[in-house]
Amino acid sequence: MSIILPALIGYLLGSIPFGLVITKLAGLGDIRNVGSGNIGATNVLRTGRKDLALATLLLDGGKGAIAVFIALALGWRPEVAGAAAFLGHCFPVWLSFKGGKGVATFMGTLFALNLVAGLFAGAIWLSVAFLLRYSSLSALIAAAAMPFVLFALGLPTYAIAALFMAMLIYIRHKENIARLISGTEPKIGAKKSTA
Ligand code: G3P
Repeated sequence: MSIILPALIGYLLGSIPFGLVITKLAGLGDIRNVGSGNIGATNVLRTGRKDLALATLLLDGGKGAIAVFIALALGWRPEVAGAAAFLGHCFPVWLSFKGGKGVATFMGTLFALNLVAGLFAGAIWLSVAFLLRYSSLSALIAAAAMPFVLFALGLPTYAIAALFMAMLIYIRHKENIARLISGTEPKIGAKKSTA
């Protein structure tokens, strides 16, 4: 019971596709037909609407954080709830299990699980983004670092959850990785994507 309920609540929260809902409500059509086709904040930014991209980032991150806080309040395993929210974002039942890449939800989950780890992840993402201007590369480097950071903080079960999420982030970014290698990955804010 201590795993099933946080997994279920986390998954249902995470499966709300905020980027898709917000852009549809704003009359921008289906975000899956824009840029990379992803439902996340980076792709919402390609519509030119910074406000909607920020809202998507906060809501996709917030759903991971809320899943963790609910679990903590109810005495459930918070890392299970956060990882389930992440899975819900990547594989939402409402979109035939074709969801996003999970980065914002991963970040929100981290911030709620451990503020130091969240700040580390945010700092890595921002530093790489500032220097190189690739959202995907920023996420890949931040995700890879987090299992080590959490382990170093003495939080092994959180580190295992972060490792699971980081591996899935790499799988979900396989097209981005191919574009990074070929030099065709669009930089942050560029309107067009090759995918
Ligand atoms: O957070 C998603 C980001 O890492 C990549 O997004 O739209 O460029 O594939 P996108």
